Amino acid sequence: MSNIKVMKNIRSQLIIFHETAHAELASALEMLAACKATKKPNQAFGYFMHAKDEYSHAKCFFKMLSSRGEKSSVEIAREFRFAAPSLIKKGYISNNGFLIENMTLKDFIAFVYTNELLAKSSFEKILKLVGPNTEEGLKISNIMADELRHHGMAKKYFLNHYPALQPWQLMIYRTKETIHNKGRKIYDANLKFLERILTPIYKGMAYLAGVLASKLDLDEFKREGKNLLNISSKSIL
Ligand SMILES: [Fe+2]
Ligand SMILES: [Fe+2]
Repeated sequence: MSNIKVMKNIRSQLIIFHETAHAELASALEMLAACKATKKPNQAFGYFMHAKDEYSHAKCFFKMLSSRGEKSSVEIAREFRFAAPSLIKKGYISNNGFLIENMTLKDFIAFVYTNELLAKSSFEKILKLVGPNTEEGLKISNIMADELRHHGMAKKYFLNHYPALQPWQLMIYRTKETIHNKGRKIYDANLKFLERILTPIYKGMAYLAGVLASKLDLDEFKREGKNLLNISSKSIL
C-alpha cells in the first residue's frame, strides 16, 4: 500500500474509534445518571454495573484510538484528541440533560434495549476492520458479548414490567433510534462542512481588521494633554 493510502486508512480508522469511544463514554455517563436517579437499590446496582462495562468499553476504544494516533502525524493526532465538551457537541449527550431526566422510564429502557442491539451490529463492522483473530478483535468480541447481555437485561425488564408491549412497538423504537443515529452523523458532517467554509472567512476578517489597525494613526488615541470636555461626543476616543 502506498504511503498516502496507509495514511488515509489510518485516518478513517481514527474517525471510527474516535466516534465509538465517544458513544461508549456517553453510555457510561447516561447509566451513572440513571443510577443516581433511581430509588430502587436493585436498579441502581444494575445501572452501576452497566456503567462500569461502558467505561471499560470506552477505555478499550480510546486505547485503540491512541495506538493509531501514534502512527499519524502530530496534526492529525491532535485532531482526534479527546475533549469532554465534544460529547455534547457531537450530540452523544444532550444539551438538555441526561436521558433519564427527559424520558419516561419505559422509553429509557426501550432506548437501552434498542441501542445495545445497534451497538452490537456496529461493532461487527469494526471487528471485520481489525480482524476477528487479532488481540483487538478479541477485545471487541468481548464488548459485543457485553452489549448483548445489556440488551437481554433491558429486554427482560421490559417484558416483566410492560408485558402488553408488542415486538412491533419495540421495532418502532429501533427505527426511531436508527434515524436519530444517522441524524447525528449528518449534523456532525454539517458542522465540519461549516467549519471548513467559515474558518477562511474568520481568518479573512481577522486579516482585514489587522490591515485596518495598521493604517490607523494611533497618536489620535493619546489622551495626554487633551481637554476631554472639548472632544466631540461622536469621537471614538
Ligand atoms: Fe458499550
Ligand atoms: Fe452497553
